[in-house]
Amino acid sequence: MSARKAAVSGTPSSRDDVLRYLKMWLRHPIKLGAVAPSSAKYCATMAACATTDLDGPILELGPGLGVVTQALVDKGVAPERITSVEYDPGFAATLQQRFPRINVIRGDGFDLDATLGERRGEKFAAILFAIPILHMPQEKRQALFSDYFTRLMPGANLTQLSYLQTAPVKPVDGSFRVSSSPIIWDNIPPARVWIYSQAEAGRMAA
Ligand SMILES: C[S@@+](CC[C@H](N)C(=O)[O-])C[C@H]1O[C@@H](n2cnc3c(N)ncnc32)[C@H](O)[C@@H]1O
Repeated sequence: MSARKAAVSGTPSSRDDVLRYLKMWLRHPIKLGAVAPSSAKYCATMAACATTDLDGPILELGPGLGVVTQALVDKGVAPERITSVEYDPGFAATLQQRFPRINVIRGDGFDLDATLGERRGEKFAAILFAIPILHMPQEKRQALFSDYFTRLMPGANLTQLSYLQTAPVKPVDGSFRVSSSPIIWDNIPPARVWIYSQAEAGRMAA
């Protein structure tokens, strides 16, 4: 079976998905952080910026109903390499149904030691991050990303969905470098992919 056939039922970002997002956003605006799934162009950019060409597992935090997951699969990432951590039980169940070959964990992306359990020491080839963090103070965001950096393989990067026009997480003592994609206007709202690379890494994904 080709990687593209990993999605079995329902197309991410269908009209039903948009309604489901909207309903969820009305109930939990801070936790969801978006009124609609990211656009296809946005998701393709996120997947393109991530260092998935490194040999290793991929960690997706805040996958929602799987639009970025689908973009990873479309890029040619084997579904078995992907672990997606989603807090909402309904979203997590739909995601596992759509992508039976990825590893879906219903858990908290802010507490990866607990969420990953026995896999807590694993190093990832890329982390794709879409959990809202703008409610957190800058120091807490930096501590969170510092923790994520300890989970990356050498040369691997962390990519973040954000609607901000400046980097949502500022580098601490030059410990990592930040760049971004151009703004993607067809996303609702328009957004960028923020790319955080290890300071010592001699490579950039974008
Ligand atoms: C802005 S949506 C992004 C969804 C999808 N990646 C996209 O680009 O359309 C944020 C997602 O993060 C999930 N989420 C919120 N808090 C979380 C947490 N602490 N751990 C894991 N997922 C979380 C939400 O349920 C939602 O699915």
